[in-house]
Amino acid sequence: MTLSLRVAIVGAGPAGIYAGNILNRQVTEAGGEVAIDLFESLPAPYGLIRYGVAPDHPRIKGIVNSLHEMLDAGTIRLIGNVEVGRDITVDELQERYDAVIFATGALRDAPLDIPGIGLPGSFGAADFVAWYDGHPDVPRTWPLEAQSIAVIGNGNVALDVARVLAKHPKDLLSTDVPANVVEGLEASPVTDVHVFGRRGPGHVKFTPIELRELGEVPDVDVIVYDDDFERAANDPHAEQLFASNNQVKVMTRTLNGWRKPADHEYTASRRLHLHFLHAPVEVLGTEAVEAMRFELTRPVGDGSVEGTGEFVDVPVQAVYRAVGYASSPVNGVPFDDARAVIPNEGGRVTDAAGQHLPGVYATGWIKRGPVGLIGHTKGDALETITNLIADATAGSLPAALVDAAGGEEVFALLDSRDVSYTTWNGWLALDAHERSLGEAYGVPEGRETVRERVKVVPRDEQVDISRDGSLVVS
Ligand SMILES: Cc1cc2nc3c(=O)[nH]c(=O)nc-3n(C[C@H](O)[C@H](O)[C@H](O)COP(=O)(O)OP(=O)(O)OC[C@H]3O[C@@H](n4cnc5c(N)ncnc54)[C@H](O)[C@@H]3O)c2cc1C
Ligand SMILES: NC(=O)c1ccc[n+]([C@@H]2O[C@H](COP(=O)([O-])OP(=O)(O)OC[C@H]3O[C@@H](n4cnc5c(N)ncnc54)[C@H](OP(=O)(O)O)[C@@H]3O)[C@@H](O)[C@H]2O)c1
Repeated sequence: MTLSLRVAIVGAGPAGIYAGNILNRQVTEAGGEVAIDLFESLPAPYGLIRYGVAPDHPRIKGIVNSLHEMLDAGTIRLIGNVEVGRDITVDELQERYDAVIFATGALRDAPLDIPGIGLPGSFGAADFVAWYDGHPDVPRTWPLEAQSIAVIGNGNVALDVARVLAKHPKDLLSTDVPANVVEGLEASPVTDVHVFGRRGPGHVKFTPIELRELGEVPDVDVIVYDDDFERAANDPHAEQLFASNNQVKVMTRTLNGWRKPADHEYTASRRLHLHFLHAPVEVLGTEAVEAMRFELTRPVGDGSVEGTGEFVDVPVQAVYRAVGYASSPVNGVPFDDARAVIPNEGGRVTDAAGQHLPGVYATGWIKRGPVGLIGHTKGDALETITNLIADATAGSLPAALVDAAGGEEVFALLDSRDVSYTTWNGWLALDAHERSLGEAYGVPEGRETVRERVKVVPRDEQVDISRDGSLVVS
């Protein structure tokens, strides 16, 4: 059977783009044809690569180059600045497309339900990340008034947040970080950033390169505490992980390398402290954050920990919880509140009764939860697209009802609602504009080349540049 499909993908992060690319390749290689529209609520593509990956990780941001090629090939049509569920409904998509794939990722912080978490000075990592990465929908100023800061969590997001908070802003100047972020960080009086894990050094969720990078931040000392390592000792589960998992082995060695004799003199002007076996209990303060209370924990031997009954209060003026991201529901699609994902089997979205919803799919973080690297979204996409093609081949996709008029009808619908959608050509204009801002900035001190780009932050400015294409550096 030769396929002829119209497919909408919702979300232009890596998962959505990989899904579009794999779908196009598989259908056309089999002699079929497919028209793919990629809807994105932001004016620009790339999801968390643009608005999550830390600015001082340009190598990772470089993955954008291969995603750019996929979108530039002309086989996937980007329709940006359109929020599905608000600007166009899921029903309206289903009427116009044979299949709809949700790749809406995760944007917000998972909750940390402890007393005091709502005090001024207590923040979610996702909000801070969105601020320093220039997300258009967060305020442009950030209260950086704390000298000592607690970061809760032992994942890579905690490391990103701690590193950006501890780093001297001049060391961010070669990146795409927006000007207001550099100004904000320059005003920060921070001297000490404390990162707390509730489990031991053998159970961190960091990755080796990201952990090692902490030790390379200029004028920032990394400090670990013998007491934590002693409580973590003789844990058969950690020992078994150390023996079987190379990443754990490498990270344990990195962490042990930071242990120093009691009389060691630290010389940097800022310090990054890594604490283990500290479970967050309460954020203390009356008007604002004054301290963070932890219960010391010890390993049980099966990978989990138990409280020791001993509590410590660490004086801090700000707390950042980095205990994971959480996805948001999209109006008109089932959502599993407990797992914060769209319920699915192999990417086929299921309803409350566990039945597949014909023609509705999910991929990426919204499919399996907010864990995993960009590369993992490729495997997700492959599984989802394989199942979609199997369904299409079996004839079980519902037929689109609205005459697509060569694909133009959807634009008429958006125009009728005054939705200022952006396109791939619009992104090329915005991309060129941001690169020219980078060039206009000149060569940052201590670097040999100009900045690759400086991000445009306000949504309306991004939309104007994308839709006009003629705005130049002012
Ligand atoms: C802070 C942070 C840093 C990270 N750093 C790295 C790293 O250095 N290296 C690495 O490999 N991985 C990193 N990751 C993981 C990586 O970002 C994810 O694996 C990946 O982005 C998940 O892809 P996704 O496409 O599922 O979701 P996302 O990247 O979140 O993309 C989802 C897209 O859907 C859009 N969307 C949502 N709702 C709607 C809607 N209703 N209508 C239209 N569009 C919608 C969003 O705007 C977004 O663009 C990081 C993650 C975080 C949180
Ligand atoms: N540079 C990079 O490659 C990079 C950068 C950022 C993010 N990412 C990826 O993006 C994904 C998400 O990262 P993430 O850091 O948000 O999530 P994560 O890797 O799942 O880490 C979450 C951390 O929060 C802790 N936590 C959860 N609930 C807690 C609670 N109630 N109290 C105390 N601690 C709690 C977890 O501890 P437990 O382990 O005890 O549950 C864990 O240490 C990961 O796959 C990550 O590798 C990659």
